[in-house]
Amino acid sequence: MSDLADLKERLERLKHEAIEQIYLADSLPSLEQLRIQYLGKKGALTEILKGVGQLPADERPVIGRSVNSLKHDLGEALREREAVLRAQLEEERIASERIDVTLPGRRHPRGAMHPIQKGIHEMTAIFQQLGFLVAEGPEVEDEFHNFDALNIPPEHPARAMHDTFFFADGHLLRTHTSPVQIRAMQAMVKRGEEPPLAVVAPGRVYRCDYDMTHSPMFHQVEVFQVGSKLSMAHLKGILKFFLSSYFGRELPIRLRPSYFPFTEPSAEVDIGCVFCEGKGCRVCKQTGWLEVLGSGMIHPNVLKAVGIDHSQYSGFAFGLGVERLVMLKHGIPDLRLFFENDVRFLRRMGA
Ligand code: PHE
Repeated sequence: MSDLADLKERLERLKHEAIEQIYLADSLPSLEQLRIQYLGKKGALTEILKGVGQLPADERPVIGRSVNSLKHDLGEALREREAVLRAQLEEERIASERIDVTLPGRRHPRGAMHPIQKGIHEMTAIFQQLGFLVAEGPEVEDEFHNFDALNIPPEHPARAMHDTFFFADGHLLRTHTSPVQIRAMQAMVKRGEEPPLAVVAPGRVYRCDYDMTHSPMFHQVEVFQVGSKLSMAHLKGILKFFLSSYFGRELPIRLRPSYFPFTEPSAEVDIGCVFCEGKGCRVCKQTGWLEVLGSGMIHPNVLKAVGIDHSQYSGFAFGLGVERLVMLKHGIPDLRLFFENDVRFLRRMGA
């Protein structure tokens, strides 16, 4: 067989084999593989063209034309197959992305503010309405702000009564929000300002104590005012307004003598029992009164500690337990409900 006939036959076989394989290709990558295999730089056609050089000059154009027409045919076949495969892919995509409009929607349960946060907001707002500024202080405190500046010297028994969590470096978790009194007054003095100063300071406090009615972390709201000629009368007026606003009705209050190192005189504050309206019940232990907070006139030593002239200025202060007040307002029987995060409780409180 002449070289020419031989080449022509090879081209013919190549054509049949290639067209069949292209037709069978079932993915775009395998189609690309075939293109490289036949038409690529090192492909089968290039291989054949190399043999053309050995042919007599008059036969070369014949083979050249055949090779070109085969190139053209294979190119066509590849394009056709590619179009088919792309159409299939598109169909699959549409099928897989079909939306079932009859499926029920996914519900997003509505959240609500935690009852403690809600209580803090309500209480703080009452004082803001009276012109008190909101302040916050660090939960990790030092002994100066938590004790010394509040007239609780190192060997004072009140220090032991506080069940303090200490860090190895001498810092502590604040046992009450009263250190914010110190920080707010210090900041005022540092700004070069004088009283009046009226502040409400909500926040978390910590005591090493845990039972039915005590949690190692709880919340307090601290309220204080410094100015000229402030007296117990102002304290009692603010207390009466605050407690009646918070409980949403006129409540009787009474002050009983008490003791805090940072107030003098000091008073425990009671409200008329919200469960029996003062008639006497199990909750108020038949007294008709519920103790709700500690208060008093800011001790001169406290004003001294922050550099406020106590001969010119006086002040009152009180600190209340948020959990206790929220429990009384909503008749919540157990402190631990606040921290268990039982969604049924939170839902009932959150609405
Ligand atoms: N800091 C006191 C406590 O935690 C409460 C208090 C605050 C009492 C301000 C008097 C004045 O028990």
